[in-house]
Amino acid sequence: MSIFSATRIGNFGTSIFSEISMLARKHEAVNLGQGFPDYDTPDILKEIAIEAIRKGKNQYAISSGERILRHAITRHSERFYGLSFDPEQEITVTSGATEALFCTLMACINTGDEVIVFQPYYDSYCPVIQMAGGVPIAVTLHAPTFSFNPMEIAAAFTEKTKAIIINTPHNPTGTVFSLQELRFIAELCIEYNTMAICDEVYEHCIYDNERHVPFQKIPEMTDRTIRISSMGKTFTATGWKIGWAIGNERIQKAIRCVHQFVVFASATPFQYAAASALDMADEYYTSLANDLQKRRDFLFDVLQQVGLQPNKPAGSYFILCDISGVTSMKSHDFAKKLIIDHGIAAIPPETFYHNPSLGEHLLRFCFCKNDDTLHKAAEKIRLIPALI
Ligand SMILES: Cc1ncc(COP(=O)(O)O)c(C=O)c1O
Repeated sequence: MSIFSATRIGNFGTSIFSEISMLARKHEAVNLGQGFPDYDTPDILKEIAIEAIRKGKNQYAISSGERILRHAITRHSERFYGLSFDPEQEITVTSGATEALFCTLMACINTGDEVIVFQPYYDSYCPVIQMAGGVPIAVTLHAPTFSFNPMEIAAAFTEKTKAIIINTPHNPTGTVFSLQELRFIAELCIEYNTMAICDEVYEHCIYDNERHVPFQKIPEMTDRTIRISSMGKTFTATGWKIGWAIGNERIQKAIRCVHQFVVFASATPFQYAAASALDMADEYYTSLANDLQKRRDFLFDVLQQVGLQPNKPAGSYFILCDISGVTSMKSHDFAKKLIIDHGIAAIPPETFYHNPSLGEHLLRFCFCKNDDTLHKAAEKIRLIPALI
């Protein structure tokens, strides 16, 4: 037993993002690995944050979030989803969705509780479930459509199921759950008295004129769901780390208890910018999705041309490819080869599965990159078949 680390962090290791980004830097590869835009947040938002700093909004914010932002989150929820929440009691502002997820799981999970996650999953879910003493139970999203098998999800629910994490639009598959699928999950949640933790950070990164439907919209689930989002993806400001958790007062009380002892409060000036951002006109949101859709289509075509068998995502920042048509290598080795020999970085998603072999033929490419990066990436990707 180490005197320097607790057993609860025993098997976490370094994230695949750090490993791939480090290798990409070393080999000066075009990085389509980590999911952040390499273009900037709108100028107007930068000005509001700067103005807030100039106006002295530089001390601790209210722990649950500045009122101006909690009210803006309420308006946004009403405008896009017709869902009303009390900004005083039912919204907590956090340091990104990551902190909201951490606080929610810490607030709700007891030792031995089971939490259902869809695999491949966003990498923070399982470590946090484990830190909270819970047991992650994986339900696979199956290729080629990356949807779940109803029998498998029904079998995953047990008397021990405390919660299910629903991430839609989904990272890394780009799946957007249909209303029918959400209703199916809701029936199971009700049957097994389970709560839902919904990670909806890609709520506005959704394509082909689809609209995001929050799980909370299903009436029976409204009171037993925590809906988590953040400004990172919607406002191209992943570094500002302003997120929020929306849900009924009883769950919020528990979340706020944890939040106060993790960060106490989130960055004050960025909360002011987030408040203005959420109030932006509908055109902003439409053009965000249209712009990302063009980037998705560009990269999708390039990947398809070289036989990487991309899955066209309905949402998110990512395209998942099936590499088995071009190589027999496992994706982790292939990802390293792509960086070193071809100068292009992508994420092998094995670590996003309970059973890594399920992801050994997949590779995740991120398309929220500027035109220059995408064109440079395309040049390199087009050379892959000739060089393998
Ligand atoms: C599915 C998912 N959830 C949460 C996050 C983290 O969001 P934030 O940066 O607001 O903490 C990400 C970031 O990539 C994500 O993809």
